[in-house]
Amino acid sequence: MLELAVNLDERSYPIFIGQSALQDNGRLVHHIGDCRPIIITNDTVAPLYLQGLLDSLADLDPLSFVIPDGEQYKSLEWFEKISAFLLQNNCGRDTCLIALGGGVIGDLTGFVAACYQRGVPFIQIPTTVLSQVDSSVGGKTAVNHPLGKNMIGAFYQPQAVFIDTNSLHTLPAREFAAGMAEVIKYGLIYDTELFAFIEQNVEKLQQLDEASLQHIIYRCCEIKALIVAQDEKENGLRALLNLGHTFAHAIEAQMGYGVWLHGEAVATGMVLAAKLAHTRGDLSQTEVDRIVTLLKLYNLPTEIPSEMTAEQFLMHMRKDKKNKKGTIRFILPTQFGQCALVDDVSDDQVRALIEQ
Ligand SMILES: NC(=O)c1ccc[n+]([C@@H]2O[C@H](COP(=O)([O-])OP(=O)(O)OC[C@H]3O[C@@H](n4cnc5c(N)ncnc54)[C@H](O)[C@@H]3O)[C@@H](O)[C@H]2O)c1
Ligand SMILES: [Zn+2]
Repeated sequence: MLELAVNLDERSYPIFIGQSALQDNGRLVHHIGDCRPIIITNDTVAPLYLQGLLDSLADLDPLSFVIPDGEQYKSLEWFEKISAFLLQNNCGRDTCLIALGGGVIGDLTGFVAACYQRGVPFIQIPTTVLSQVDSSVGGKTAVNHPLGKNMIGAFYQPQAVFIDTNSLHTLPAREFAAGMAEVIKYGLIYDTELFAFIEQNVEKLQQLDEASLQHIIYRCCEIKALIVAQDEKENGLRALLNLGHTFAHAIEAQMGYGVWLHGEAVATGMVLAAKLAHTRGDLSQTEVDRIVTLLKLYNLPTEIPSEMTAEQFLMHMRKDKKNKKGTIRFILPTQFGQCALVDDVSDDQVRALIEQ
């Protein structure tokens, strides 16, 4: 079992990564402590992993709450339903919420944990690539509002994160690929060695070779932990994790959430960011091509939806949370393996990029 730490003073916590992190319940029980575990999951993940988890925690009198599968349930309505379930079961502050599932379950459960009785402990058991390398680490929790995604939420750190790589064996290939877009993102913002490893191990990763999986998950968590430890609430450095996301959020919003998976939109967004960096003289054409080639090897889209216009991109990007004083801010590569926040991209440059 690999272990690393997110260092945030009294809010520090461990991340465990292993092939059977869920079977080794000693550590999990230790982190639940004196609390009663309440597992929140969805109706896709529940038939796969819920009973095993309930059995391994049987001594702690666990309860579970299963929600429907889908981004649309990351909502205030289901926040309320989970809260009601906790109240009906007389759950007090000695409750530990356990998020068993992908980023939707993690974000929703984390937000309930942040609010229920002004905060109860919670543990992340992420079961998608995306949630294992990104959303379960760093304490961003949220629900969606009809007027915007992730618009209501809190920074609230878990007690621990348990990553069981075995859970990836049931993940649909398209979800796996979407998660890999975020892994490639870490390579581009921070770590050319990681990028090269992903290039050199495409087949092994796609076949879920254990050592390769553990390597990339560990490295992504390590990079995220490093960044979050320096900038927990995204006042600066943490924004770099949004490489490709300004464009991606526009694609997701324009196409309708769920039509493109988040990671798919991030893949195309990274290509746009790379091309923009190229026009600014920061990336060579060879480097742009290298990024496109790798994304394609993982069956990720690298071209914008054909029907989407530059004005539609601009309209959505003007609502980005990173913007300041109405200026759209982008994360762009400054060289291969390094990125920066830039705020001097004109609308005309964006139009030229999209129309290209
Ligand atoms: N908090 C953060 O820092 C952060 C970062 C990135 C993304 N997010 C959020 O994460 C969410 C996306 O997360 P996601 O990509 O994990 O999506 P998801 O939670 O919707 O999971 C994707 C699909 O895989 C299924 N699934 C999950 N684990 C499985 C398994 N082991 N086997 C089979 N099927 C499984 C789910 O039921 C779902 O259908 C979005 O809501 C996004 O806003 C949050
Ligand atoms: Zn993302």
